[in-house]
Amino acid sequence: MKNYLVTGGAGFIGANFVKYLLKKHKDIQIIVLDDLTYAGNLGTIKEDLKDPRLVFVKGDIKNPKVVNGIFEKYPIDFVVNFAAESHVDRSIENPQVFLETNILGTQNLLDIAKKHWSTGKDENGYPTYKDGVKYLQVSTDEVYGSLGASGYFTETTPLDPRSPYSASKTGADLIVKAYGETYKMPINITRCSNNYGPYHFPEKLIPLIIKNILEGKKLPVYGDGSNIRDWLYVEDHCKAIDTVVLNGKTGEVYNVGGHNEKKNIDIVKLTISTIRKLLEENKEYKKALKKPGDDISWINDDLITYVKDRLGHDQRYAIDPNKITTELGWYPETKFEDGIVKTIRWYLENQDWVEEVTSGDYQKYYQEMYGNR
Ligand code: NAD
Ligand code: DAU
Repeated sequence: MKNYLVTGGAGFIGANFVKYLLKKHKDIQIIVLDDLTYAGNLGTIKEDLKDPRLVFVKGDIKNPKVVNGIFEKYPIDFVVNFAAESHVDRSIENPQVFLETNILGTQNLLDIAKKHWSTGKDENGYPTYKDGVKYLQVSTDEVYGSLGASGYFTETTPLDPRSPYSASKTGADLIVKAYGETYKMPINITRCSNNYGPYHFPEKLIPLIIKNILEGKKLPVYGDGSNIRDWLYVEDHCKAIDTVVLNGKTGEVYNVGGHNEKKNIDIVKLTISTIRKLLEENKEYKKALKKPGDDISWINDDLITYVKDRLGHDQRYAIDPNKITTELGWYPETKFEDGIVKTIRWYLENQDWVEEVTSGDYQKYYQEMYGNR
């Protein structure tokens, strides 16, 4: 029986990972630690919490008392750290919380895991550890910076973060690596490209575009829409993390991506045409529309509005996933054309979730941050 501490398990990828683990493995115990910031929502895992293998703890990864308490109560084997401030636009407005959560939170988790996992010292003074334990840091391709028209990020690409968000994730990666070297802690780092899928908070491109279409609002595209992201269905990311937790070689970094580069403008246009097609195919889905009426001809590319570009907007990300594929046998299973339809269907069928997660300060924040665009 393995005991997982999954931080950020009420957020987008963390919650999908919890669902994945519960389906995939029988003999496990999962402790989710999440502070339920604006991006975390207990409703996302409420069905899963009926499973006795899952326990939820509300708390901050920076809080030593809370993290210690978990390690004292449960014999944690694996820490999988998803908890983070994750939105680049917010990091441009308020970098401090990104540094605090993403760097200091990571260091606190490492310190406490080290304390509880240590079994003594070897002849050179390095700590020794309980068998089979591992700390996995969920990182991002953004630590590598921005690419030009060609090339890919590999695990040896120099780190070159360009936003406060990516700088904070890079700081976290470096402290994880440092604990791996200095204290020989059993660590791995995964660096994944852009995820999409169910439970994605509607401040990120794809769920925001879906939400705005359903509300009959304009669709903001930054700059000229030519920036490129490399999209991966969230379940494929979860499978990659599970693979690295169980089989990753200690100390190694693994890039995760599905060779699926798309320009933002193409993502937006595809989302518009797919929603329209689904609404035409299934009248039930029209219930998700906030703009009344049977005529949906207004769902077209005229909804697109080009807005002021993001400061320091990275032009292109593209992951080379060769290492995780050849060494660990991971490969993405969901084709983008299928994943985007599954995702849009999920939003059409789960408007209650969207309303729940946007019922707090969402409108106020959105207005203050972006005005009436
Ligand atoms: P998210 O913003 O949806 O979720 C983050 C979760 O962390 C939330 O549930 C939030 O409540 C929790 N959290 C925030 N601060 C906390 C704190 N101090 N203590 C405890 N919990 C806290 O993020 P996401 O998109 O699910 O991303 C998860 C992780 O994956 C992040 O580390 C992110 O950097 C990384 N990542 C994301 C993507 C992507 O495309 N979304 C791609 C690669 C890597
Ligand atoms: O690459 C992995 C990263 O992907 C993760 O580390 C981050 O946590 C995650 O948020 C995501 O970062 P991005 O900045 O790429 O995602 P976002 O959805 O914010 O933006 C995707 C692209 O779309 C980006 O080029 C900016 C653009 N965009 C975004 C929004 C919100 C728009 O054109 N309009 C928008 O309204």
